[in-house]
Amino acid sequence: MSCIIAPSVLAADFSNLAAAAADIDDSGAEWTHLDVMDGSFVPNLTFGPKMAADLRPHTSSVFDVHLMVWRPEDYIDEFARSGADYITFHAEAAVHSHRILQSIRKLGKKTGISIVPATPVILIEELLPLVDLVLVMTVNPGFGGQVLIPECLEKVKTLVLLREKKGLSFLISVDGGINETTAAQARAAGVDVLVAGSAFFNARDKKALVSQLKGR
Ligand code: DX5
Ligand code: ZN
Repeated sequence: MSCIIAPSVLAADFSNLAAAAADIDDSGAEWTHLDVMDGSFVPNLTFGPKMAADLRPHTSSVFDVHLMVWRPEDYIDEFARSGADYITFHAEAAVHSHRILQSIRKLGKKTGISIVPATPVILIEELLPLVDLVLVMTVNPGFGGQVLIPECLEKVKTLVLLREKKGLSFLISVDGGINETTAAQARAAGVDVLVAGSAFFNARDKKALVSQLKGR
């Protein structure tokens, strides 16, 4: 089975996100990755749930919301209402991650947990039975266009082994610095979902790029 491709609209023209959604649909990428930043947990600001809600009618793509905010629990309800399919937050940004994951499931949404490059997989081990997605950051979050930190791919391998050992079925995603070359490394490590911001929106032939990322 080939990887799911999740272009991040962070790299799109924010004044024309409906066009970005159309580009994603036309490219064959299955998901749309929405990077929500609060200017405090990460050193950048993006958008809130209204943007997701406004974009929702323009596409049937799976909305993969990546919350890079402190107190993610304060935003879960609104993102669930805005049409998010997956709601992912950072283990580093919350104390009661277990409870937040339960709340997301209660709202009928898929759960995701993310870790920054400084965080080891062991920090989220107890949460794995409650997640549908683990998002491994392969750059320090905040900005698009950075270079992938290769050591982070070791965490993908660790997660593949843990998933097998525990008999679980969550998806493993990588986010940051994904291009044709690093996608191949991530696929070799066992990843299921590839997030790509600049590689996708800078590509002139987006369909070809999606095929390359999938390794076809
Ligand atoms: C970074 C974001 C990423 C970002 C990736 O903090 O979480 O989703 O858009 O961008 P690229 O693919 O350009 O590294
Ligand atoms: Zn992201």
